[in-house]
Amino acid sequence: MLLLHTNTKTHSLKNFILVISSFCGTYILASVLLLGTSKILEVHSSLQQDVFEPLTLFEPTTVDHFVFGIASSKASWPKRKEYAKLWWKSNNNQMRGCVFVDSLPSQKEHASNDTTLPPLCVSEDTSRFRYTYRGGLRSAIRVARVVKEVVALNHSDVKWYVFGDDDTIFFPENLVKTLSKYDHRLWYYVGAISESMKQNWFFSFGMAYGGGGFAISSSLAKVLAKVFDSCIERYPYLYGSDARVYSCLTELGVALTLEPGFHQVDLQGNIFGLLAAHPVTPLLSLHHLESTNPIFPNMTTTKALQHLLEAANVDSQRLLQQTVCYHKQFSWTISVSWGYAIQVFPNNMPLPDVLKVQETFKEWMPKKALAGAYSFNTRPLQHNPSKIPIIFYLVNVSSGEDGIIISNYKKSFQYGSNKMSSLQKMEVIKVFTNKLDLSIKQMQAPRRHCCDVLPSRASDQMEITVRECKDDELIYMH
Ligand SMILES: *[C@@H]1O[C@H](CO)[C@@H](O)[C@H](O)[C@H]1NC(C)=O
Ligand SMILES: *[C@@H]1O[C@H](CO)[C@@H](O)[C@H](O)[C@H]1NC(C)=O
Ligand SMILES: *[C@@H]1O[C@H](CO)[C@@H](O)[C@H](O)[C@H]1NC(C)=O
Ligand SMILES: *[C@@H]1O[C@H](CO)[C@@H](O)[C@H](O)[C@H]1NC(C)=O
Repeated sequence: MLLLHTNTKTHSLKNFILVISSFCGTYILASVLLLGTSKILEVHSSLQQDVFEPLTLFEPTTVDHFVFGIASSKASWPKRKEYAKLWWKSNNNQMRGCVFVDSLPSQKEHASNDTTLPPLCVSEDTSRFRYTYRGGLRSAIRVARVVKEVVALNHSDVKWYVFGDDDTIFFPENLVKTLSKYDHRLWYYVGAISESMKQNWFFSFGMAYGGGGFAISSSLAKVLAKVFDSCIERYPYLYGSDARVYSCLTELGVALTLEPGFHQVDLQGNIFGLLAAHPVTPLLSLHHLESTNPIFPNMTTTKALQHLLEAANVDSQRLLQQTVCYHKQFSWTISVSWGYAIQVFPNNMPLPDVLKVQETFKEWMPKKALAGAYSFNTRPLQHNPSKIPIIFYLVNVSSGEDGIIISNYKKSFQYGSNKMSSLQKMEVIKVFTNKLDLSIKQMQAPRRHCCDVLPSRASDQMEITVRECKDDELIYMH
């Protein structure tokens, strides 16, 4: 107003001031808008702001960096603790974690001073949470909360939390190897889907099935623990515990990292086909072995698992690794599932066919939609005697002083024909290997091994060596 009555000199000053002030106004307005926007886009995740040291500067991951959260109950633990005994390593208190039960079994059923077993933890009360899945078990909420309660145990120096059921058998050395691939400071949810397509279709293709076991990096577990109770309030209608964990991780924006070495085993009957065609990745777990036949003929479930673990104790990483060689002279296809079984097919079978899982098992939920659909390729059980393999099962494994590991496999008549005359006399297959110790790079980009049939020294015995393939070596019938 004052400037209106001034001379041209002040007028030009006025114009100058107006220009400046309008420029400033625009600038301030722009700044507010910009600042506001940048506020909206601000990075809140502590994860993304950290400047990370290279992982190699950290001490290598060992089982000491794990904390296990095993879901059990007063009713099931007394029997199923036998499974935990198989894999829980108690020497020097190596392993940490808890078996979560609804209440403690009687003293008679569980000695609290038994150091060969993980300690028991009584789960917190979950009666305040709603559970509305008709016909389901509300213990799913208690079991889901293991992911929270295991973090609350306040263990130090944790890289990974590993979860499973009381009927999950873990292979700890292989878990260490596999999880070492990942940076525990980032958010990881590592596990596997079900073998049953129907289960995946009904529940989720993106969920780690709880019984197969799964791992959550410590950085993610801490955040998940913080938000878990408020999150599961939104999912009273879900069936299981694993679906609750999956839903809350999904709300955090985290997706499953698939590791096919975890085995939920949603199958019944004879799981030979599954174990004989393992993916090229270490065996991490087996589950549901009460619903399947013992994995070795003529043994109880527990005895059969102990037998498999004898091989795991000699070379854990090689366990179940499938190697295929072709016997040129007899046109046999020989498939080794190291530490478990060898199949000799009386014909030339292309490698991609040998790698398909033989449908020796029955479905988890038979007689409904999606019958016979699995999350891997299968081939039907052979009934044609000229194509049925003869199976040799593991007898023993030993490691010589020269570092060469010898595993022996004996013929079984449980399946297969006796038609291959040259095989009629053969009783034992001997396999020579070196101990497998995969580097992180080999874990990230694995390659199947090759094998050779050695010239025969005795008609009742075949000898095979398993080794790394040469650079351009192809696996086929020459
Ligand atoms: C464990 O405790 C029971 C009684 O509570 C006792 O009889 C037993 O000797 C103890 N075992 C060990 C290994 O300390
Ligand atoms: C774990 O630490 C938290 C926070 O420091 C504490 O409130 C809680 O009581 C601790 N729990 C155990 C089991 O030590
Ligand atoms: C099964 O075990 C029984 C008793 O130990 C033995 O006599 C039999 O030969 C075994 N059968 C096979 C196929 O190994
Ligand atoms: C392992 O099994 C083979 C074949 O049955 C047998 O000849 C050998 O004596 C066994 N070795 C040991 C150490 O038991």
